[in-house]
Amino acid sequence: MEVDAIRTIAVLGAGTMGNGIAHVFARAGYAVVLRDVEKSLLDRALERIDANLDREIKKGKVTGSEKAQILARVLPVTEMAAIARADFAIEAVPERMEIKRAVLAEAGGVLRPEAILATNTSSISVTALAAASGRADRFVGMHFMNPVPVMELVEMVRGLGTSEATFAAAMKLCEKIGKKPVAVNDAPGFVSNRVLMPMINEAAFCVMEGVATAESVDAIMKLGMNHPMGPLELADFIGLDVCLDILEVLLRDFGDTKFRPCPLLRRMVAAGWLGKKSGRGFYVYGLAQAESGDRP
Ligand SMILES: NC(=O)c1ccc[n+]([C@@H]2O[C@H](COP(=O)([O-])OP(=O)(O)OC[C@H]3O[C@@H](n4cnc5c(N)ncnc54)[C@H](O)[C@@H]3O)[C@@H](O)[C@H]2O)c1
Repeated sequence: MEVDAIRTIAVLGAGTMGNGIAHVFARAGYAVVLRDVEKSLLDRALERIDANLDREIKKGKVTGSEKAQILARVLPVTEMAAIARADFAIEAVPERMEIKRAVLAEAGGVLRPEAILATNTSSISVTALAAASGRADRFVGMHFMNPVPVMELVEMVRGLGTSEATFAAAMKLCEKIGKKPVAVNDAPGFVSNRVLMPMINEAAFCVMEGVATAESVDAIMKLGMNHPMGPLELADFIGLDVCLDILEVLLRDFGDTKFRPCPLLRRMVAAGWLGKKSGRGFYVYGLAQAESGDRP
């Protein structure tokens, strides 16, 4: 599939990442088929896209009339059969191997043979997911960052069987929507989470062991290392459950105990303290903050 032949994008999963991915493709002029399992989830995703477009209008990134056109390009669907028209599909369902395998196998059976299938996984083996899709050569990892409409990077992951043509088309597609793709090979956590998660984990250990408060850990990393956000603020933003899931994947797939999740992180997730989205993590958030997709 040549990049210029790509007109319709299917996005599987309309959660945090799926609605952002739908947003950026529709904004770039692509027709988007957005699929989730329930209509109420799709309604919520469209409300989120609507609200995020309003912010972009305020920032002068899009105009009011463009907003209506962008929204009109997104077709919400619950039936997998509706993605058959897509030239390129991106999976953004929960970070669970069994869910992804089932969704990718179904999507791989519905899409035309030449269509490319991508996964937005943060840590699961792209090669293993490719096998489930039944089209390993036309399969690629496209790791968008959160919030998708704002963040420039897409970490592009080559699975063992990804063809050069598929990888080149996916790289160009990222550029066409204004993102900066950076290529890596398939390995647990790729580069982003392999480097980031141990830092977040050690920050949690510092709090658990009483070395410093969350505020102090974050202040040290911001003021001393010039990080725009502290690791614990960032962990709250990503979701502590998501961080824990990724650390479990790193621990299992590398078999190296340096990735063992901090017990405090486990306890917080068990308590439902998932970070910004639940109103409490290393910090406490008001309702308005918890519902906004903004980085703190
Ligand atoms: N949240 C982040 O910061 C972030 C960043 C980069 C990558 N990711 C990755 O993106 C993926 C999605 O994460 P998220 O945070 O958007 O999750 P989320 O829970 O917000 O959204 C997942 C959506 O998938 C839907 N879903 C479940 N089963 C489905 C199915 N069979 N078909 C279609 N939709 C289905 C759910 O209803 C939900 O709306 C994960 O692989 C995650 O690791 C997340």
